[in-house]
Amino acid sequence: MANTVYVLNGPNLNLLGTREPQTYGRATLADVEKLCRNAAARHRLKLKFDQSNHEGAIVDLIQEAGAGKAAGIVINAGAYTHTSIAIRDAVAAVAVPVIEVHISNVFARESFRHHSHIAPVAKASLCGFGIAGYALAIEGLAGLIDARPKG
Ligand code: DQA
Repeated sequence: MANTVYVLNGPNLNLLGTREPQTYGRATLADVEKLCRNAAARHRLKLKFDQSNHEGAIVDLIQEAGAGKAAGIVINAGAYTHTSIAIRDAVAAVAVPVIEVHISNVFARESFRHHSHIAPVAKASLCGFGIAGYALAIEGLAGLIDARPKG
């Protein structure tokens, strides 16, 4: 578990591929998972990949990662990014580095997407790279893990 990166996806990300392709592209969530598995394997990290449309289920997964001392969490909380204090509190509660990812450039979109409850408690955030952002987040996380003092 200590070697495991959790990649967590929030509501409507199960619809990637058909959902607003002009904004999110044509790649599916299965394509995202493949990308993440390759990125994790490059760094000898195990991967747990999940998606839920339910706020509490995402909170449970964050807590699970914390309890298992996971190596890190990459989270695209979807619209919950902008609304969920419960997910923000779960991120703040766990001693695991959390990287926030968004496929689209949320700052170039509607103003309600400009605020993230997660960003202030995340280790880092990135957006606007399309699904490549997930792999970049895993790369960044691997760098943080390597840079951690050993022992
Ligand atoms: C998103 C951006 C959010 O504003 C939106 O609600 C999503 C997807 C992204 O990946 O760009 O569901 O997180």
